[in-house]
Amino acid sequence: APDGLAATPPMGWSSWNAFADRIDDATIRAMADAMVARGLRDVGYTHINIDDGWQGKRDAAGVLQPNAKFPDMKALSDYVHARGLKLGLYTSPGPKTCAGYEGSYGHVEQDAKTFADWGVDYVKYDLCSGEWFYADADSVQRTYYQMGAALRATGRPMIYSLCEYGRFAVSSWGRQVGGHLWRTTGDITDDYKTMSDIGFVRNPKFAPAGPGGWNDPDMLEVGNGGMTDDEYRTHMTLWAMQAAPLIMGHDLRKTTASAMRILTNRAVLAIDQDALGVQGRRVRADGQVEIWRKELANGSAAVAVFNRGTAAASVTLTAADFGTRTVGQLNELWSGRKVQPTSAVTIAPHGSSVLLMKAKLQ
Ligand code: DGJ
Repeated sequence: APDGLAATPPMGWSSWNAFADRIDDATIRAMADAMVARGLRDVGYTHINIDDGWQGKRDAAGVLQPNAKFPDMKALSDYVHARGLKLGLYTSPGPKTCAGYEGSYGHVEQDAKTFADWGVDYVKYDLCSGEWFYADADSVQRTYYQMGAALRATGRPMIYSLCEYGRFAVSSWGRQVGGHLWRTTGDITDDYKTMSDIGFVRNPKFAPAGPGGWNDPDMLEVGNGGMTDDEYRTHMTLWAMQAAPLIMGHDLRKTTASAMRILTNRAVLAIDQDALGVQGRRVRADGQVEIWRKELANGSAAVAVFNRGTAAASVTLTAADFGTRTVGQLNELWSGRKVQPTSAVTIAPHGSSVLLMKAKLQ
């Protein structure tokens, strides 16, 4: 990317999935603390993003103020930065945001400057209220371009997250309006049906994205309790294989041991964060089993096996699945176990497996 931001998919946390607009200064500080204490920062989750619900009114000069639950945004920003983390904020182009708070309409440049003054590192720009923004591809692009240009004009590097729900083939223009990631779908919810529809069907329809500009199938639900561990592993496998941003969406203070294992598996995170930035894709389907491949910077490829069915399934991988001539010994990344190349891999219902060829591992 020309500005060097988001060379790999952004990783962090956002308030929306777990809290909606029931957020305040103390909760955000507690999340920053938990991010560090739980070791999440140290495996790469660095963004603390405040979503909708922090905004108050504008002052006499039009400067947007936080609401009473956020007494001092600069102090909060300093608190987050002091922990080696980055602060994200949310706004929307209309007069009101999706949750009915003050939007940036008529104040785009002013709000970008306010965010820069507070030390914000990441801005999510939604698309609510003001139906005229939705009218056609031109208006949507213009809307996103305007904020992108305003953020750049501040001189402060800020990751720019477009929340346009995958409208108007966004992956073909997201970069041109200054975006570093752009949503490809409507909102995720904490259930297998919605998550798997986004991960298997909807996000893959967009042109593959890469370094500096990523397709965003929405934030993670791991840790919120609505899916089984196998389903949450599939959620992570789908997002990692597609080089998706990994923005957690649960109460970090309540991270269970199993959610911790899913969110902090370094080998799986390394697939997501691989420097080549390839968006992996399906290479074979066999009944309810799907085989996906993602090429990696070291010249090898990660292969994921998914079982979309409700009964256990097994499959034997072939060299063609890896895009190689032969298959050597494999490492299964969720279990950490070795798999012999000729033995079948058994996958739990709604489960998944990620395999790397051992010989190519560092
Ligand atoms: C819709 C977005 O898709 C969500 O992620 C969240 O930002 C809400 N708007 C906030 O109102």
